[in-house]
Amino acid sequence: MRFNPFKMLVAFVLAIGLLTAPALAGEVEVLHWWTSGGEAAAVQQLQKMLKTEGHTWKDFAVAGGAGANAMTALKSRAVSGNPPTAAQVKGPQIQEWADLGVLTNLDDVAQAESWDKLVPEVVADIMKSDGQWVAVPVNVHRINWMWCNPMVFQKAGAKYPETWDEFFAACEKIKNAGMIPVAFGGQPWQEATAWESIVSGVGGPEFYTQALVKADEKTLASSKMVEVFEIFRKIKKYTDKNAPGRDWNLATAMVIRGEAGMQFMGDWAKGEFTAAGKVPGKDYEALTVPGTGNAFLFNVDSFIMFEVKRADAKKAQKAMARLILSPDFQVVFNVNKGSIPVRAGIAEDSFDAVAVKSMADFAATAKTGGLMPSMAHEMAVSPAVRGAMFDVVTNFYNSDMSPQDAVQKLAAAVKEAKM
Ligand code: GAL
Repeated sequence: MRFNPFKMLVAFVLAIGLLTAPALAGEVEVLHWWTSGGEAAAVQQLQKMLKTEGHTWKDFAVAGGAGANAMTALKSRAVSGNPPTAAQVKGPQIQEWADLGVLTNLDDVAQAESWDKLVPEVVADIMKSDGQWVAVPVNVHRINWMWCNPMVFQKAGAKYPETWDEFFAACEKIKNAGMIPVAFGGQPWQEATAWESIVSGVGGPEFYTQALVKADEKTLASSKMVEVFEIFRKIKKYTDKNAPGRDWNLATAMVIRGEAGMQFMGDWAKGEFTAAGKVPGKDYEALTVPGTGNAFLFNVDSFIMFEVKRADAKKAQKAMARLILSPDFQVVFNVNKGSIPVRAGIAEDSFDAVAVKSMADFAATAKTGGLMPSMAHEMAVSPAVRGAMFDVVTNFYNSDMSPQDAVQKLAAAVKEAKM
């Protein structure tokens, strides 16, 4: 081959182009389900940061709490051979996508950014497949919270509950004062969210782990679990008739406006209070669900990246992965989202009292065994077992099934799902 200086120059220019950001500014199309006020405020921070680096964000938002609709949309796009660049996917589903061989290996970003040193091992394990990083964690949410309106409690002469007896006493008072005790959204995932907190509150960490992490059939059919269903049924009495189908953020809005006293919900609900300019300890109170002061049911949001061919798209994708775990993003995102940083060593100063308590409880429960993965939010069991649990919980809640029948059905459904 003859030496051609012109060709050399072109190759050189292209290589330089590959290394410089503006020439390679790319687009990321991102599937997520963060459409409520607080969620949108949080995810916009990522769009902004990517834009600063010259990349563009194509929003692929699919509304619907806990992401069931988003996952359906993702599957249909993937089946048609046209997945988005990145998608909000969590827990065991990350492995399922990785097994299909369609995910971008993020090890280069992980190494350059020292993710292994910055992300707790329990979280890193969920993000890896065969030891390689295939997902980026965003945050840590706590599920076992109850969001309360102090004015409602005051008007009703009710006291913040620490036990289930006190909880129902407060419900009675709020009801008698003409307000709705519990703001509730009757959707299977919201029912499961409340239910798993009750499992933890009634049974404690060991019981929760046996029942909802190990899916042990004896525990699922136990008399303790009967108690759980009894409490769950009793709570329904204190919800309003418009609860069926209500979105979670609309239930949060009822507490914000003082129409309802309390809501069982993970701390993305705090994002709604923050977006409405409300201050914890003054405008609202976050209590742990009765009996769960020593427990932290956690849920980690994360993004997987699909393999892309174009160099500019690759660059944008890797930038997104890097930015997600950057200290600045970890602060600004989590302040808006209601969650706490998943990256170690982030200063507490920018966070409110609820987040600071969450951070302390996260560290403390990691030592005592009280740190437990959320079943409802896809951290604990396989999608099939989770589906079986959801079916029984929602059927129970929306019928007059007895608690005794419910526990039998639960154990049987889980057994079948495991086969
Ligand atoms: C959870 C998710 C949160 C929040 C919530 C409501 O599953 O982890 O980030 O979005 O659903 O949609």
